[in-house]
Amino acid sequence: MRVFVAGATGATGTVFVPEATRSGFELLLHVRPQTAVRSPLAQDPRARVFELNDLAALADAMAGCDAVISFVGTMRDRFTAGDTYASSDVGSARALVEGARRAGVPRLLLLSSVGAGGAGAYLRMKGECEAIVRDSGLRYSIFRPSVLVTPEGAQAGSHGSRRAPPAFGGLLGALGALPGLGAFAEDYKPIPLDVLARAFLKVLEWPKDGAVLTGRDLWRLGG
Ligand SMILES: NC(=O)c1ccc[n+]([C@@H]2O[C@H](COP(=O)([O-])OP(=O)(O)OC[C@H]3O[C@@H](n4cnc5c(N)ncnc54)[C@H](OP(=O)(O)O)[C@@H]3O)[C@@H](O)[C@H]2O)c1
Repeated sequence: MRVFVAGATGATGTVFVPEATRSGFELLLHVRPQTAVRSPLAQDPRARVFELNDLAALADAMAGCDAVISFVGTMRDRFTAGDTYASSDVGSARALVEGARRAGVPRLLLLSSVGAGGAGAYLRMKGECEAIVRDSGLRYSIFRPSVLVTPEGAQAGSHGSRRAPPAFGGLLGALGALPGLGAFAEDYKPIPLDVLARAFLKVLEWPKDGAVLTGRDLWRLGG
């Protein structure tokens, strides 16, 4: 299966790419020009270097793919460097949908967040990204993990820092042991990026069209 991966250079992409490669997937890895100068991924023969809003280049890179995955996103502390929720998260969702339509790629898998569509700028923005994908006419699956954690021994992504487990992770583990709270705790429990990567691989192989997958699903699929 041939898969176009946007956000390949980030924390999630850096864990996903080797897992998917070991599992035999044929990947095309999107790398931004500004990141190509410092990311080792740019030297990978599977890398395609261009701006995602270059729709002609995007459709060209996606040609022949069976699915598109988006791990794209930014954080508030990068706004001053030029990446905003509008340009990175929402803009990439729109571009990837349009690229997939032009290239005839049938499926899109979106990494979103637990609570998407809820209160606050981040969750509202995640809801907007999901709506773009849901309304795209493409087959889609949406992934809504809680906090992401870089597993032992894995490389950090293009922004350097490893994703560390927050202090409340242990509390949720304890809550999950209480009767009736297991699924709720799984939805909010921090999730290692290798578990998330394997959940994506499972859904690539066994499509879950129209599904919104929360932590409880992701632990089952990738754990
Ligand atoms: N961290 C968490 O705990 C958490 C929890 C739930 C959901 N999420 C969501 O999961 C996604 C991935 O998280 P992460 O921690 O892997 O993020 P990350 O390490 O910050 O990586 C983000 C990726 O998006 C790319 N990107 C950003 N703006 C772009 C643009 N305008 N055009 C093309 N690519 C762009 C980055 O490329 P460069 O390398 O070129 O910057 C990088 O590859 C995000 O959407 C995030 O909101 C995160």
